[in-house]
Amino acid sequence: MSSRDGDAELLVASSDAAFARLGADVIRGVWDDCPEGATILATGWTPIPVFRELAARHARRELSTPQCPIVQLDEYVGLEDSDPRSLFAWLDREFLTPLEVDASSVIRLRGTTADSEQECSRFDAAVAAAGGLHLAVLGLGPNGHVGFNEPPSGPNARTRVVPLSPESIASNARYWSGAEVPVEGITAGLGLLLSADVVVLLVAGAHKREILRRSVAGPESPEVPASYLRRVPRLIIVTDDDAAAGLTPEEIGSRHLPRI
Ligand code: GLP
Repeated sequence: MSSRDGDAELLVASSDAAFARLGADVIRGVWDDCPEGATILATGWTPIPVFRELAARHARRELSTPQCPIVQLDEYVGLEDSDPRSLFAWLDREFLTPLEVDASSVIRLRGTTADSEQECSRFDAAVAAAGGLHLAVLGLGPNGHVGFNEPPSGPNARTRVVPLSPESIASNARYWSGAEVPVEGITAGLGLLLSADVVVLLVAGAHKREILRRSVAGPESPEVPASYLRRVPRLIIVTDDDAAAGLTPEEIGSRHLPRI
């Protein structure tokens, strides 16, 4: 990893296996450097190989259960935990259970509460009480959303309920073979995500190439919520050849793009 302070570090994996290893190495390194403060975790397809690599290391006893509080990033409004489509169920399957994190210790963001305003305030207060966010592990939506901070979302966007964009509904449909996707989400606000000391943005695939370019090399804009991630003290983008194709070091302000 090498870049000037304040610039994004962009690490390019040369294979799927390298992407998983690289993502796991980076996350583990952040945890080892600073075991304090909470870690907020995205679901979605992109982090799965990384979570599975972390789980495999845990199974081989090379990695202990993370000691930091784990925070849920987003959820569909109206889905119960027991619904396998809920993002919490997904997080539980792919991360909490394999890494032996006690699910009851997770700072939850529930999509089934009667008073969503109160749920969002409780969530923000719980994250603050846990020492704030040290690490945010995020995916990149096809329209530049992070969590469910849909465009337009500015840097002060609060934790809130949001209507999902048609683009997000379409892209989320692939998770359940076309089953109906909820039309609202509840999400940690972009403002909260920008309070993290470190953001690890996981981006893979040619279909993310253009939005990755706009996120890291374009102007900051509420139309591309991920474009604000460059404001955090340390932004590490773990990507692959397909997503990074055509990006130059100059465009992201790095001296070079390490390829692993
Ligand atoms: C979803 C989720 C995000 C996720 C993103 C990318 O809508 N709300 O948390 O990071 O879209 O998903 P994927 O990694 O499957 O492309």
